[in-house]
Amino acid sequence: MDMVQRRVFSGMRPSGRLHLGNYLGALGNWVALQEEYRCIYCIVDVHALTDMQGEATRAIQPNIREMALDWLAAGIDPEKSIVFVQSHVPEVMILQTLLGMVTPLGWLMRVPTFKDKVRQLSETEDTVSYGLVGYPVLMTADVLLYKANTVPVGEDQVPHLELAREITRRFNHLYGPTFPEPQARLTEFPLILGLDGKQKMSKSLDNHIELAATPEETRTRVGTAFTDPQRLRRTDPGRPEVCNVYTLHRYFNPDRLDEVYQRCTTAQMGCVEDKRLLADGINKTLEPFRERRREMVGRAGYVQEMLRDGARRAQVIARETLAEVRQKMGLSEEAL
Ligand code: TRP
Repeated sequence: MDMVQRRVFSGMRPSGRLHLGNYLGALGNWVALQEEYRCIYCIVDVHALTDMQGEATRAIQPNIREMALDWLAAGIDPEKSIVFVQSHVPEVMILQTLLGMVTPLGWLMRVPTFKDKVRQLSETEDTVSYGLVGYPVLMTADVLLYKANTVPVGEDQVPHLELAREITRRFNHLYGPTFPEPQARLTEFPLILGLDGKQKMSKSLDNHIELAATPEETRTRVGTAFTDPQRLRRTDPGRPEVCNVYTLHRYFNPDRLDEVYQRCTTAQMGCVEDKRLLADGINKTLEPFRERRREMVGRAGYVQEMLRDGARRAQVIARETLAEVRQKMGLSEEAL
């Protein structure tokens, strides 16, 4: 097997603007990995089609742009990493078809995220789309097309990575060593709760703060955050241990933590002031991010050009892998 240097691949569905939880979780980690690995980061627009159709798909293009801006502003560096849109390198869909030939349907039907999704979309196994069943095969094709060995993902993607490894082993067994077995790289990041202080920060729950929010929006949204539910009066001492605003201070006001703790637990400071401090910390921390983002928005065609260049670089690798797979699987290359 031709050993490739350690290569990272990861993807996100084009969900539009990212929020604090995305940054403290996946995205910050992606930025850090660029120092150690050759990284490929992909906006997976074909995956987005597995659970949306018709009119709704009009959101895909603006969402790709917003997400790419957030990635770049956060420090994903197109000089170091390849950044591209999945469908711009259509070879992945050919590899998906070919990998589908070595993937038992039973494996796919047993994936827990598949069962959840079927329930969530109120589908049955008879009506669910072929595309949705194939979600993990497409994801495997993403990773294998670039022979990536390291895949930074959250806990929820572990079953998909397990399946990717099974498909890889099966392919290598049938057609000879071709792909490295991709490893999930789970990052220890804290669960970031939303403004409700109860559920994970998420756009769909509308309990989030966008990275690209204005300072005023940030202040307004932080103002709605839930704090210690037992602190009813201004004179009650607060309990930072159970307060999500305090948790966020850890990230956005690390040098004022002791002060905040002290003044909250002794009721010298109320929740209103506490939240104002947090909003200031968030705004100060994100100012360079927001500045870079504004600058890129002002450069006409910048994002598109960057994504086009990423796709060109990705496609060089993709074509090489696909040629090898075709040859190993007995498909003629004469017409190519
Ligand atoms: N399924 C992943 C998610 O929803 C996104 C994804 C698609 C991905 N292809 C990938 C992640 C390849 C890692 C590697 O988060």
